[in-house]
Amino acid sequence: MEQLLQQIKAYKQEIASANGTDAESFRIKWLGTKGLVKAIMGEMKNVAPDKKKEAGQLLNEFKLYVENRYAELHAVSENNKQQATNDQLDLSLPADPMSLGSRHPISLVRNRIISIFQRLGFAVAEGPEIEDDWHNFTALNLPENHPARDMQDTFYISQNPDWLLRTHTSSVQVREMQKGQLPIRIICPGRVYRNETISARAHCFFHQVEGLYIAENVSFADLKQTLYFFVQEMFGKDVKVRFRPSYFPFTEPSAEMDISCLICGGEGCSVCKKTGWVEILGCGMVHPNVLENCGIDPNKYTGFAFGMGIERITMLKYQIRDLRLFSENDIRFLDQFTGAV
Ligand code: PHE
Repeated sequence: MEQLLQQIKAYKQEIASANGTDAESFRIKWLGTKGLVKAIMGEMKNVAPDKKKEAGQLLNEFKLYVENRYAELHAVSENNKQQATNDQLDLSLPADPMSLGSRHPISLVRNRIISIFQRLGFAVAEGPEIEDDWHNFTALNLPENHPARDMQDTFYISQNPDWLLRTHTSSVQVREMQKGQLPIRIICPGRVYRNETISARAHCFFHQVEGLYIAENVSFADLKQTLYFFVQEMFGKDVKVRFRPSYFPFTEPSAEMDISCLICGGEGCSVCKKTGWVEILGCGMVHPNVLENCGIDPNKYTGFAFGMGIERITMLKYQIRDLRLFSENDIRFLDQFTGAV
């Protein structure tokens, strides 16, 4: 009996100081089928018969004490759980920030170019990246063995020597002209491929926007005006423009257009190779042979065409020195265009 009293006293002390105990582990330790309450109840059999009544009361009272304590702990833990659920449902809490991607600079500039020309009434036309020789070359006044085919190093598809990866989106213009719905006023954005050694200034694939306007009485003056407008919208009013005579088999006359260097403002730097000018596009009046090849009467219709590399424009606009950055997918580079338009 004395032992029992001592034991109960010790247990009560332990329980009293058991604040913050997890209710379930408390239950298992004290009230479980192998718990301490059950064990101490088992001591009844060792109590002298005349003390059994007293011991029974003592043990029952102890059991009640433990049960009450468990009820308290249980209530506290339920309350905590409820609190946690309430917190989860607090709709006024700010959400965890989600990291968003950003548009690729090439996409940003392509969209910008498209929207400038759309304001002049140009529609977007697209075509296949795997082309046949006729659409990429022959129709554009580059018959077989024409030396100008070497101007663009071409990737051919090995299964069929007639197939190639388009070297420019002029092939899309050919497809549009073949449809024969005149006038034509289109721009052709898209990816093109050339077998060039990869460097800071060249890659084996890049992006172009080419343009084509065919109607009656389209003149070189129209071409110049269109491109002046484009440059002003793209780079601002202060940028100067110049045309240089050039050669393309599909245009006659042909020109290349330069703008004053945006990096040094025309003073001369490494980007403009100390000339103060950078070339941004090729252009010209559509060659009569091209119109004829595509079923358009060159005596009735004239047109102009131009083509530019989006990478070049993007590099000038954002002062990017190495073209390889565009295809390396380095997040530190791409992140810089978050929020850019
Ligand atoms: N197709 C030419 C190129 O890829 C660009 C160009 C288009 C030039 C139209 C003149 C007229 O280099």
